[in-house]
Amino acid sequence: MHQDVEQILVTEEELNKIAHRLASQITKDYEGKKLLLIGVLKGSIYFFTDLSRYIDLPCNIDFIHGSGTVSSGKINIIKDVADDLTGFDVLLVEDILDTGNTLKYIHDMLSKRNPESIGVVTLLDKPARRIADIKADYVGTDVPDAFVVGYGLDYDQYYRNLPYIGVLKKSIYEK
Ligand code: IMP
Ligand code: MG
Repeated sequence: MHQDVEQILVTEEELNKIAHRLASQITKDYEGKKLLLIGVLKGSIYFFTDLSRYIDLPCNIDFIHGSGTVSSGKINIIKDVADDLTGFDVLLVEDILDTGNTLKYIHDMLSKRNPESIGVVTLLDKPARRIADIKADYVGTDVPDAFVVGYGLDYDQYYRNLPYIGVLKKSIYEK
């Protein structure tokens, strides 16, 4: 275990099971639909690559990147997806739903582009911290209100490449 990690919350094996479980649900639910998976950069990349490989359906993939969440709830889009989503059943893929402000902003923005539907899949959910009116259709697992890193999730851009989800030691972000 990394020296800055206090506790492992979700192991590699559990992460793999989550990706398989959600992918098989999505495979059933989206059969016959024009699926477009949109990963929210950068945090979702490891989950996105696992999940998408286990979805047994034809699909398109793309990525959207917003700059760090601002308290106003408005985010700056650095890398966008197509202006026109007509006909697509979009599934947004997130690393974690915390306050929900980021995903709510992206969800509302993409809703205006005429998609057939927009769903949300999140690896982790911190329901205790939700502010925005948004709910995920598929959740990997709930996590307590602690700062977590790994498998894509960062603290100050580090720790993304840890193969598990761990709780970061308070001494790291309080120093
Ligand atoms: P929001 O509060 O739901 O808008 O969360 C936005 C973003 O904050 C997420 O996509 C993550 O990148 C980041 N975030 C929230 N909680 C954590 C955490 O515990 N660890 C790492 N990143 C987090
Ligand atoms: Mg982040």
